[in-house]
Amino acid sequence: MPADSHADRIVMITGAAKGIGAATALAFAREGATLVLADIDTEGLGAVLAGLPGSGHMAVRLDVTAEADWAAAMARVGATHGRLDVLVNNAGWGNLRSIFDTTPDDWRRIIAINLDSVFLGTMAAMPWLEKSGDAAVVNVSSIRARVVGFGSGPYSAAKAGVEMFSKVAAVECAQTGRRVRVNSIHPGFVDTPLSKAQGEEARAARAASVPQGRMAEPEEIAAGILFLASRAASYVNGTGLVVDGAFTAV
Ligand SMILES: NC(=O)c1ccc[n+]([C@@H]2O[C@H](COP(=O)([O-])OP(=O)(O)OC[C@H]3O[C@@H](n4cnc5c(N)ncnc54)[C@H](O)[C@@H]3O)[C@@H](O)[C@H]2O)c1
Repeated sequence: MPADSHADRIVMITGAAKGIGAATALAFAREGATLVLADIDTEGLGAVLAGLPGSGHMAVRLDVTAEADWAAAMARVGATHGRLDVLVNNAGWGNLRSIFDTTPDDWRRIIAINLDSVFLGTMAAMPWLEKSGDAAVVNVSSIRARVVGFGSGPYSAAKAGVEMFSKVAAVECAQTGRRVRVNSIHPGFVDTPLSKAQGEEARAARAASVPQGRMAEPEEIAAGILFLASRAASYVNGTGLVVDGAFTAV
């Protein structure tokens, strides 16, 4: 089996109802993986599930900020598959408010969805990841972990936390004999339904700010996630993969 194959791998993706998560689910399924799709948007999950090639996929309603939801979802994964090979902590959300307009509730919500989620998910999944013998966690961070954009205060703080948490988890897994690699991925501007909804002018301005002259397609982020999760990345651990059309290179 080629090292980049995901045939027979059990892969769980949060925020899988649309955008990067949905594109990643399709890419894994095309490689022969069996998917566990998780989101709060059950209607969206149903649509993604219906479009996946292969069989044995499941969808679970999971609020990534809720410890009890994680426990219930992982109990289902354990009962069905007895292991988990890949966890993609992808669900995330931010607003575009200056820190001076950010309320404590905004702050807590954004930190919870983007950062608490990664800790809760990684810990809840760990017993099943350990059973894989060759597992990977990919945490979806952002270029906002590295460079500032207007209105990215709590979001940047959370995404930088995701990057550092990934490194700590990678080191602690390796040093405690757990065969679980942990990496983060840092997308630049991605052309998702959200960016399309922001209008043509805003999209064009974003595209023009990127050296490659365009936003990423969700499939281009999915490709990075599949690489980090694959056996081809067997010595890639505790690092962050930037996929941004050279945005942070200038
Ligand atoms: N789109 C971009 O330009 C971009 C750039 C860098 C990083 N990212 C990151 O990529 C990830 C995916 O972004 P996207 O653009 O595909 O977003 P999206 O809004 O298209 O999809 C996010 C999904 O997460 C789900 N979600 C939100 N809160 C949740 C919760 N509490 N529990 C479970 N699911 C929840 C939503 O229902 C949605 O299906 C996020 O972590 C985001 O921060 C996106």
